[in-house]
Amino acid sequence: MAEHLIRAVVAVEGLDSFDVQRSLPDDPNFQLLGMTEGVDETVRALQAQNADVLVVACQGRDDDRSLQIIDGAHRTVPDVPIIVLSAASPNGFLRRAFEVGAADMAIFPQSKEQLRFAMSKAIARRPGGAAGDGTRREGRLVCVLGPKGGTGKTLTSSNLAVALALAGQKVLIIDLDLQFGDVVLCLGLPPEKTMYDLAVSGGSLDEDKLADYVMTHQTGVDVLLAPARPDQASAITIELLRDVLVIARQQYDHVIADTPPGFTAEVIATIDASSDLVMVGTLDSLSLKNTKLGLETLSLMDYDPEKIQLVLNRADTRVGITQHDVVTVLGSEPDIFIPSDREIPRAVNEGVPIVLSRPQSFAASAFHDLAALFVSSEVAAEAAARVEQPKRSSSLSFLRLKRR
Ligand SMILES: Nc1ncnc2c1ncn2[C@@H]1O[C@H](COP(=O)(O)OP(=O)(O)O)[C@@H](O)[C@H]1O
Ligand SMILES: [Mg+2]
Repeated sequence: MAEHLIRAVVAVEGLDSFDVQRSLPDDPNFQLLGMTEGVDETVRALQAQNADVLVVACQGRDDDRSLQIIDGAHRTVPDVPIIVLSAASPNGFLRRAFEVGAADMAIFPQSKEQLRFAMSKAIARRPGGAAGDGTRREGRLVCVLGPKGGTGKTLTSSNLAVALALAGQKVLIIDLDLQFGDVVLCLGLPPEKTMYDLAVSGGSLDEDKLADYVMTHQTGVDVLLAPARPDQASAITIELLRDVLVIARQQYDHVIADTPPGFTAEVIATIDASSDLVMVGTLDSLSLKNTKLGLETLSLMDYDPEKIQLVLNRADTRVGITQHDVVTVLGSEPDIFIPSDREIPRAVNEGVPIVLSRPQSFAASAFHDLAALFVSSEVAAEAAARVEQPKRSSSLSFLRLKRR
C-alpha cells in the first residue's frame, strides 16, 4: 500500500518509554513529533504541532492516569484520533477509554506493522477523512437492510450499484449475505474469487490486496463476493470486515453492502461503520411490521434517521394496504417506490440488473432515483467544499414518488 506520512505524538503512562519507542514504526513515513507524559505536556504537544494521531501507551489499569490524558486530549483537539496502546485490556478500562474519546485500541507490545495499520485506520476514520496530505475523501458506505428474506435487498443493492456506476461513480458492492449471497447471480458474474479467498490468504490487508480479490462487472462496478459455500462463512471475521470497509471507503466513491435478513454481527458492524442506510420493505403487513421493528432498532442504536432511505418494494401490489397505512405503520413516507415487475425475476435469472436490461422501466427509474439521492448530495457536498455555495434545492427534490 502506498503509505502516507503519519505524524504522531506518543504519550507514555506507566510503561518504559524506551520499550514504547522501540515498538513504533521506524520508516520515513512515520514521524514521531514527541514523547510526552501527563495531560498537560501531551495537550501542549498536540496544540503546538500538527499531529495526525495521538498514541497513548499505558498499563491499562482502571485507575490509570492515561484516561485523563485521553480525556484532556480529546477535549482540546477532538480532530486528532487517539489510539490506546495498552499492556492489559480489562473491560472497565476499555469502556472508559472509549467513553472519554479513544478511537481504537491495541495491545502492547504490538508489531510495527500492526501499529501503523491501526494509526492509518484511525486517521482515515476521523471525520473529514484521511490525513492532511491530499489523500481522497472517504467514500460513502451504504448498507442495504431488510427485515426478511425476499424483500428485495439484493435486487436493490445490485441495481443501486449499477445505477451509481452509470452516474460516473466508482462503486464497490460487498455481499455480506455470507452464507447464501446471491449478488453473484444478480450481476451474472463467474464466482472466481470471493471474500473467503481473501480471508484465508493470510498477511495484512491493504488496498492492493483488496483489489486482488474483487471481481469487476462490465459496468465497472467492483464486487467482493460472498463465500461460495455456507461453511466458508465463518472464515470472515468481524475484524476483517471492519478493515475491508475502512480500506474500501478510501478507494471507492460508494461502497454498497448487501446484507442477509436480520441484525447479524456482520450487519451490526456494517451499520456502525456506515454513512447511510437503505431499508427495504415490501407492501405486506408482516414485512411492514418487521420494517418498523428494524427502524426502531436503528433508533435504539442512535442512527440518524436523516441517513436512512426507506424503499418500498412491490409498492403497487394490491393487497388491501394503502399508502396511508404504510405511513401510519412506519411513521414516515417511503423515499422510493419500486413497482412489481415481471421483468425483475427475468433480469435476475439472466444475471443482468433491470437498470441495464430494461432501462426504460419504472423499476429502473426508481433505482436511478435512489442513486440520485446519494450522488446529488455527494455532488452538493463537494460543491459546498469548493467555497462558493451554489444555489441548489434539497436532496428531497430528487425524489419522484411513484404512485400507480
Ligand atoms: N419488485 C419486484 N418485482 C418482481 N419481483 C421481485 C421484485 N422484488 C424482488 N423480486 C424477486 O424476489 C426475489 C427476492 O429478491 P431479493 O432481492 O433476492 O430479496 P432479498 O435479497 O431481500 O432476499 C428475487 O427473485 C426477485 O426477482
Ligand atoms: Mg439477498
